[in-house]
Amino acid sequence: QYERLWLIGAMVLIVGFIVTITYGAVGLGITMVDDQEATLPPDDIDDDERFADPRVEQVGEDEYEAYVVAMTFIYQPDPIEVPANSEVTFYVTSRDVIHSFTVVGTNTNTMVIPGEVSVMTVEFDEPGEYGVVCNEYCGSGHHDMEGELIVH
Ligand code: CUA
Repeated sequence: QYERLWLIGAMVLIVGFIVTITYGAVGLGITMVDDQEATLPPDDIDDDERFADPRVEQVGEDEYEAYVVAMTFIYQPDPIEVPANSEVTFYVTSRDVIHSFTVVGTNTNTMVIPGEVSVMTVEFDEPGEYGVVCNEYCGSGHHDMEGELIVH
């Protein structure tokens, strides 16, 4: 009988955790959907058609892909412009050292590692302007490394 109570208690806790995590992911009209894998970039990212020309590309009715390059001490493109009521998958890589791609005031945040691609899908429900900053120490200009994300 007590075992049953423990089981119910444990399940209530688990559900509580899930609700907390889900609730925590919602804020400011930006929702991070999931993490995915992406093809690794070649040694020279200029040989990679995704990153040779950093940009936002429409891939579906309300779906976009953003190819973003971080480097000391900027992000490309800058600003990153996406429409409201869209779902954007970000592919982010670095040209030189480890940076981060952190959208201020949201939970959109990822480490950006040379030779790897960080992938995040984010829903943008409302127009707004956000700062993009770097959380990983990357050199003398680290504290000034910032970009802009504009949701129209
Ligand atoms: Cu880039 Cu710190």
